[in-house]
Amino acid sequence: MNKKCQIFTPKDYVEELLNSVGYTQNLYGKKILENSCGDGNILTSVVQRYIDDCKANGLSRTRIKNGLEKDVYGIEIDEKQYERCLHNLNEILTQNNIKKVKWKIYNNDYLHWNENVEFQYIVGNPPYITYSELNKNEQLYVKNNFKTCAKGKFDYCYAFIEKSIRSLAADGKMSYLVPSSIFKTVFGYNLRIFMCSYISEIKDYTQVKIFDKALVKSSIMILNKQREQNVLKYRDMTLGTQIEIPIESLEDKWLFSEKSEKRQHRFGDYFKVSHVVATLLNKAYILPDGTYREVENGFICGNHTIEREIVKSTDTPRTLRYNKHEKIIFPYTYNNGRIVHFADGEFERLYPGAAAYLNGFREDLDKRQSDNSAKWYEYGRSQALNDINNSKLLISTVATNDIDVYELDQECIPYAGMYIVEKGDTNKYTLKDAIKILRSDEFKEYVFKVGIPISGRSVRITSKDVENFMFDEVI
Ligand SMILES: C[S@@+](CC[C@H](N)C(=O)[O-])C[C@H]1O[C@@H](n2cnc3c(N)ncnc32)[C@H](O)[C@@H]1O
Repeated sequence: MNKKCQIFTPKDYVEELLNSVGYTQNLYGKKILENSCGDGNILTSVVQRYIDDCKANGLSRTRIKNGLEKDVYGIEIDEKQYERCLHNLNEILTQNNIKKVKWKIYNNDYLHWNENVEFQYIVGNPPYITYSELNKNEQLYVKNNFKTCAKGKFDYCYAFIEKSIRSLAADGKMSYLVPSSIFKTVFGYNLRIFMCSYISEIKDYTQVKIFDKALVKSSIMILNKQREQNVLKYRDMTLGTQIEIPIESLEDKWLFSEKSEKRQHRFGDYFKVSHVVATLLNKAYILPDGTYREVENGFICGNHTIEREIVKSTDTPRTLRYNKHEKIIFPYTYNNGRIVHFADGEFERLYPGAAAYLNGFREDLDKRQSDNSAKWYEYGRSQALNDINNSKLLISTVATNDIDVYELDQECIPYAGMYIVEKGDTNKYTLKDAIKILRSDEFKEYVFKVGIPISGRSVRITSKDVENFMFDEVI
């Protein structure tokens, strides 16, 4: 069990989760589930509300006890948390002078739980566990049993969302505290398709740090098994604004703003945006300032002289910002602008100094999860190499305040960020135009809309995001 996901919901968000589905009155006879209930943080509020409401409706203590036994369900995989949860719920009973309840709280794995019950309410803060943090068996189980997780690097919480929606009663509603990234991340695409029929409201707290320890940006989402209107209410809880977005206008990524007037040109029709080379072992290839001495025929690093022809200048948005200069070993050559890989043994024969230097990293180089065709001394991924031998721009995949755009020479081989080249020779727009577009306020606004919020005020964007930017004429 991955304990990293045991971060409990602060009290005011618990109340918001319950208010969001209307868990406020006439609760007797309505089933509610908290499917990752931890120490009962949410369930204690559920039970207190249930008791208060039943009392207000004049129900006897015995009926309330019987009601709690039928209506309140909880599941928790961790035995310690489960025991704490029972203890905390029993405390509420004592405080309210209600006899011992035979709770329907289970120490179980929700994703394997097969009781056939339908719920009027499901509330919670499910475990967020990234694909790579799940063990192999869990990855397979989830992949094979949940259609929202059939492809790509899903998050564990997608399966909780899918299973919850399926077990809602026809009039059922659920509210979940989730990472805001699920509305935009590439691997959440199938989940968004699945949720489209049910999503009714999103309360966005991306400007608020809900969890002290976690850097996750969060939202409460509310789903109805039978949504009455085909609109999604989006509320920015920091700004206090609300807009209604027609469900049919939700695209690949869910963007929460009223549609701006249509702009004419798509950036990607004129420019190609690619992620840069991935060596998968930068320490072997990058020669930072001060780690080498330049001589006539190359660069001396330790005991090796790395041949000049095989070394290029390199940059990243970070080195450019801090005005640092680095070199990169580039174990390829170009012929008529096309990348050429050395034949077997040729690299070692032509560049013995570079080969010997890289051989010093051999164990780590061999451990990389490289492309199948990559030779031991080549970069792990070579997808970006063909177009990189052009004049280009470089931008970061993370934007914080402004969008920094850098111009790079044809020969420079960046190893972080995304690079931008013109598409074809007869392009209507030049890289100079691209700079203006990328530095415009419209682009900045767009980036903060489509980007996935990460720590602080920063968002992460992809090459597809940049290509999908729509602009008007460049002035
Ligand atoms: C983010 S915590 C939320 C706890 C509680 N719902 C709250 O909001 O305070 C997620 C909880 O899910 C539990 N959990 C993880 N995997 C689970 C599974 N497969 N089935 C049930 N509970 C699980 C963890 O032990 C943890 O207590």
